[in-house]
Amino acid sequence: MSFDVSVIKKDFPLLSREENNDSLIYLDSAATSQKPQQVLDVVDSYYQEINANVHRGAYRLAEKATTAMENAREKVSNFIKSERSEEIIFTKNATESINLVAKSWGEANLGEGDVVLLSSLEHHANIVPWHQLAESKGIEVRWIPLTESGLFDLTDLDRLLEGVKLVAVSGASNVLGTVPPVRILADAAHDVGALCLVDASQYVPHRPTDIEELGCDFLAFTGHKMCGPTGIGVLWGRSELLDQMPPFLGGGEMILDGTQEGFTVNTIPWKFEAGTPPIAEIVGLGAAIDYLESVGMSNILEHEKTLTSYALRTLTERLGDDLIIHGPDDVSVRGGVFSMAYQDIHPHDVSQVLDDRGICVRAGHHCAKPLMKLLGVGATVRASLYLYNDEGDVDALADALDATGEFFSQ
Ligand code: ALA
Repeated sequence: MSFDVSVIKKDFPLLSREENNDSLIYLDSAATSQKPQQVLDVVDSYYQEINANVHRGAYRLAEKATTAMENAREKVSNFIKSERSEEIIFTKNATESINLVAKSWGEANLGEGDVVLLSSLEHHANIVPWHQLAESKGIEVRWIPLTESGLFDLTDLDRLLEGVKLVAVSGASNVLGTVPPVRILADAAHDVGALCLVDASQYVPHRPTDIEELGCDFLAFTGHKMCGPTGIGVLWGRSELLDQMPPFLGGGEMILDGTQEGFTVNTIPWKFEAGTPPIAEIVGLGAAIDYLESVGMSNILEHEKTLTSYALRTLTERLGDDLIIHGPDDVSVRGGVFSMAYQDIHPHDVSQVLDDRGICVRAGHHCAKPLMKLLGVGATVRASLYLYNDEGDVDALADALDATGEFFSQ
């Protein structure tokens, strides 16, 4: 498919809906993306034509369901350029993927005084599991500082890496849009014998992903931000690590054998997939990958870069000093996420006035309270772009912000 945003928009049924008599303008894809008809159809037909439990039945329908699920695992694996589909573990979301690493690898390998190095822009999903390990195992959580413009400040990296066993960083910030130098951090981690985990929730949906280029050891992401269903996340890990890690949850599927005395553990990926998996959601994620690949991840990246430049220019020109956009202004190191302060109007008020005009943005702390504290704000209003947004959406946002200013000046 060549990239034509007006054609792409039509794939998303919700985007042709009206909201408060205005056409819906969806600028909250960092929270969750809209779903194309192609994905909705596959999930629907899965339930209508295939539905059965996986890995358990000897009848043809159950085999079909198992094949559909395992085909989706293969698609995920190819999508991030993993050569081994057993390195793809299905979870509920990116949060669960990171928790899996913390609870399994972390509990088994970290102890008193070991350091987990995070960055100062992390989402709570990549903070709280490490705080929990600090409580249970006495590890130290350390923070990579940010520059004024929201980039990683690596001037003191050698000192920051002392005693580090894991570097766990975002692949792209859900607040600032910052795309950190993951490869540099992964290499630096390996140089001191540490591992590297990337929270790629805001990365995988927006650009081609190659785990070997990233150089990391674990990659966590979620289906619902990449045109797939909710309730399905992914953990990719190097098989030599996953093989050594103890199971996370216990139950069916993760055992090879179970007796009154105990159990033996299955091989990866099933070792980490206790219980009936979210089969329809996994199949839906496979369909989302088919959809994104038909558009082309490089096309999506280029489109978002162009639109991000347009948004930075338009919002700055139109709203001047009334608007602060947190984060870098260089599109080579940022994605299409704009956390903003507008005049001194509370972000929730801004969001409500935008909603009256059919514009969906998120207001709040974006599950990144330590970063909010560094920015010196309690909340921001956040607009985020995806493949189905266009210049008209950005113009509508600028118009609506302008109108918000007028509304509150009365
Ligand atoms: N983590 C998601 C966001 O940033 C929910 O909105």
